[in-house]
Amino acid sequence: MSKVTVFLSFLLFREILALSGNFWHITDLHWDRTYNLTSQPEHICASSGDRPANDAGKFGDYVCDSPWFLINSSVYAMKAILPDPDFIVWTGDDTPHVPNEDLGEEEVLHIISSLTHLINDVFPDTKVYSALGNHDYHPKNQLPAAPNHIYDQVAELWRDWLDPESRETFKKGGYYTEKLLNQTGLRMIVLNTNLYYDQNKLTEDMYDPAGQFSWLDKVLRDAANSNEKVYIIGHIPPGFFEKKRNKAWFTRKFNKMYLDLIQNHHSVILGQFFGHHHTDSFRMFYDSEDSPISAMFLSPGVTPWKTTLPGVKDGANNPGIRVIEYDTKTLQVKDIVTYYLNLTRANAAQGRWEKEYRLTESFKVPDASPASMHRVLERIANEHCYLQKYYEYNSVSYDLTECDSDCRVDHVCAAKEVDFEKYKECLAEGGATAIHSGLLPFLFVIAIWCLQ
Ligand SMILES: *[C@@H]1O[C@H](CO)[C@@H](O)[C@H](O)[C@H]1NC(C)=O
Ligand SMILES: *[C@@H]1O[C@H](CO)[C@@H](O)[C@H](O)[C@H]1NC(C)=O
Ligand SMILES: *[C@@H]1O[C@H](CO)[C@@H](O)[C@H](O)[C@H]1NC(C)=O
Ligand SMILES: *[C@@H]1O[C@H](CO)[C@@H](O)[C@H](O)[C@H]1NC(C)=O
Ligand SMILES: [Zn+2]
Ligand SMILES: [Zn+2]
Repeated sequence: MSKVTVFLSFLLFREILALSGNFWHITDLHWDRTYNLTSQPEHICASSGDRPANDAGKFGDYVCDSPWFLINSSVYAMKAILPDPDFIVWTGDDTPHVPNEDLGEEEVLHIISSLTHLINDVFPDTKVYSALGNHDYHPKNQLPAAPNHIYDQVAELWRDWLDPESRETFKKGGYYTEKLLNQTGLRMIVLNTNLYYDQNKLTEDMYDPAGQFSWLDKVLRDAANSNEKVYIIGHIPPGFFEKKRNKAWFTRKFNKMYLDLIQNHHSVILGQFFGHHHTDSFRMFYDSEDSPISAMFLSPGVTPWKTTLPGVKDGANNPGIRVIEYDTKTLQVKDIVTYYLNLTRANAAQGRWEKEYRLTESFKVPDASPASMHRVLERIANEHCYLQKYYEYNSVSYDLTECDSDCRVDHVCAAKEVDFEKYKECLAEGGATAIHSGLLPFLFVIAIWCLQ
């Protein structure tokens, strides 16, 4: 055998041993149909408000939601980079950031339908697990805890992706669960966490909107009894926005209920994948002894749209998409590879989607388990070079400015504490995270690696 053959056999062997698989996670495509380059800078896209789109090009502009060209480019980039994923996770927000008056139920459904068809056309044989975002309803954010025309229509649009029972729960509350790829022992749970959004006037006074929490509790208990491993996906995450201090999305009681469920059932939950932030971040979950028990991965958005949330400085991002590598038997998350489009370069010189970073390489961890993600968090909290690296990835290499000490506290406390009270305590302690003293001798070495 030639050296090459030996090497290839080794790779194959390793692959078989690790039972490694991969899937795509895309989120927050936010298609702006009004994007038109021939207009004045203030009027290139409705989603800019009146902000001028000064760097507008074919692929978009940082103050605008995605033109079709960018959306198409992102889905074809997925096809070019990894044409045959095990499945795709798509966590919602399809429509542009414009006033309700500029959309309407028909327009929202038209946009969801167009994106569904694009993904289906490019990946006709791939299973897609799809969650609704707060922008996938009219009026936005007001997703009902009861059957309605939009849930009905979307269940039809996603017919090929849903088992018959999934279609039924989806029509009732916008959520569902099925065996992951129809395999015994593996399960996917798709949540409608828009029901817990503090902007949702329909659900704020309810105890358990659409019965989703009690359903989830039962699904997770049954999963434990059947020895299943589970992924949870959804759009709006619990906890706090890392780019704005004290900014949470869930109401206090729903945040607590979500956290309790994860703490009670963490042994069957192998990963949580969410969107909504448009940034690249993660959230840790701990047990009562402060051991890491679960990690939630927040995937960057395709839209580069600069947020108008007051208090966020320069909150745009480059378009991002990501591959999650996982163990197909245990569902352990092995690694995460994020790809991105440098929007400035793409507009100027027909740029291409490229790899931004691989989690295990950039943060020197063996995998993306809760223990490893806790190590990542410790590095970010305690070593500036890792903080800076994390910070640049957070905006998908858009904002390359220095992350100062306030910035450090915002990011570290948001990643570490999903609980409202603990987050507040973390802020008060200035984002101190315990470093095991045994690790100190190694920190110098790690610091040098990081600088390389
Ligand atoms: C863009 O705007 C120009 C000028 O207002 C108009 O003529 C053109 O039809 C628009 N293009 C699209 C695709 O809407
Ligand atoms: C979408 O992208 C593919 C691959 O680059 C290209 O062939 C196709 O023409 C694009 N479609 C549109 C409408 O831009
Ligand atoms: C799922 O698996 C069951 C039994 O293993 C089989 O009967 C069913 O047809 C499968 N469903 C799909 C959608 O493949
Ligand atoms: C993106 O492209 C612009 C223009 O070519 C360049 O100045 C910038 O450094 C690039 N950003 C990254 C992160 O490579
Ligand atoms: Zn969004
Ligand atoms: Zn959202």
